[in-house]
Amino acid sequence: MTVTLQEITDDNAQSVLALRTTPDQERFVTSVADSLAEADANPQGNPWFRAVYADGEPVGFVMLSWDVEPQPPDINGPWFLWKLLIDHRHQGQGYGREVVRQVVELVRGHGATELLTSHVPGEGGPAGFYARLGFVPTGELDPEGEVILRRSIA
Ligand SMILES: CC(C)(COP(=O)(O)OP(=O)(O)OC[C@H]1O[C@@H](n2cnc3c(N)ncnc32)[C@H](O)[C@@H]1OP(=O)(O)O)[C@@H](O)C(=O)NCCC(=O)NCCS
Repeated sequence: MTVTLQEITDDNAQSVLALRTTPDQERFVTSVADSLAEADANPQGNPWFRAVYADGEPVGFVMLSWDVEPQPPDINGPWFLWKLLIDHRHQGQGYGREVVRQVVELVRGHGATELLTSHVPGEGGPAGFYARLGFVPTGELDPEGEVILRRSIA
């Protein structure tokens, strides 16, 4: 499998915006459209985003705060995995893991020593996914009650 992170352009926007989680997962991540609107509304979060492609087909979306100045509790960083969505038809095939691996390599190349993220707690959520990938709870919650996680980048 070849997973790549590609810019969202007029040519692929429609197919990327059509990506969906299962209905049950919608409480754990916003849609691509809402994530892009959130990026637009929060320039202070220094949003960076890409479509996830597997073998030439869009399968997901990832968004980071890119080397942002932390302003706790609202902005965590400098490197924060803000959104991660793999379309429900493509989950369970290692794409989420590969995206995180590529993001870690990318930010490492820009001097990151840790990657932060957060998730809504609850049954059916991504806690186990992040734990498998080496993320550990910091013990803090963000103002929305999301569990903050850290993955060291050695
Ligand atoms: C969470 C998500 C990104 C995982 O992506 P994925 O491509 O399905 O995951 P992968 O196939 O790469 O799984 C990697 C490993 O994590 C495990 N895993 C995946 N989702 C899991 C979950 N929800 N709970 C526990 N383990 C999970 C897999 O079994 C696999 O384990 P392995 O080590 O035995 O191989 C995807 O399911 C998703 O988009 N979910 C809805 C939105 C969401 O919750 N996003 C995160 C918001 S913060």
